[in-house]
Amino acid sequence: MYNTIKTELTDNIFFIYINRPDKMNALNQEVMKELALAIDEVYTNKEIKSAVITGKGEKAFVAGADISEFLTLSDQQGIELAKKGHVVFKRIEDSAKPIIAAVNGFALGGGCELAMACHFRIAATNARFGQPEVNLGLIPGYGGTQRLTALVGKGKALEMMMTGDMINAEEALEWGLVNYVVAPGDLLLKSTELLQKIHTRAPLAVARVIKCANAVLNNGVDGYEMELNEFGACFATKDLQEGAEAFIQKRAASFIGE
Ligand code: COA
Repeated sequence: MYNTIKTELTDNIFFIYINRPDKMNALNQEVMKELALAIDEVYTNKEIKSAVITGKGEKAFVAGADISEFLTLSDQQGIELAKKGHVVFKRIEDSAKPIIAAVNGFALGGGCELAMACHFRIAATNARFGQPEVNLGLIPGYGGTQRLTALVGKGKALEMMMTGDMINAEEALEWGLVNYVVAPGDLLLKSTELLQKIHTRAPLAVARVIKCANAVLNNGVDGYEMELNEFGACFATKDLQEGAEAFIQKRAASFIGE
């Protein structure tokens, strides 16, 4: 069905592989279109409870937007290109179902931005992160100036974006860009383990924490106000009843997402 990505549904987890290993999984327009369709599947397919985005091959998660597509673009076309990226990455960020990045190698430019649009990141020991756009006379255009600053703080974000230097997995862990660093062979295992745990939690509540956490980055939205409303809305769910009852009865809760 797809040319440039591969997808696989296993135990309610949708694995999305960017699949251009000979080009370091660079994001060309076709990948972006197919990624958008895969994210649509995450939104609409009831069998899918969560997703993992990763790269095929051993070297790269995604080494950026496809530089070969930059050569002929006008400034207006540059804006259009970035807008498409903004839309897809925001859909990832706004997904009510958890989407995590399993970073299996280079995550540069648009690759780092893709990883940052996910709800959180797990890195293999060989992962490398960077925003090298200044080396090309460019700046991050898929939300990186905003998300990197939010994740690692302004000083470190500016250093990364101004030098274009890469950081390794351990530095990314120390800086708060990733949550775990694991051996390459354990990357999908660790991702699966975390998502299976989240699957046992109340899905509507999980969706609401995503929404409220995203509000922090959204100027013009009062995240505290949103938290009040989302907190209140939990009381209208069967899951909260079940969760509270299960706690009192000292048993595990069984959530139905209602
Ligand atoms: N866009 C288009 N093609 C890319 C690419 C990108 N972002 N990143 C890698 N490729 C291609 C290379 O051109 C090369 O293609 P070829 O075999 O047809 O010549 C192939 O992928 C392998 O890359 P190569 O550079 O030979 O591998 P390497 O191991 O020496 O270096 C990187 C790996 C990731 C360090 C290096 O490819 C790189 O710096 N890529 C660009 C990163 C970047 O600037 N990203 C931001 C873009 S805005």
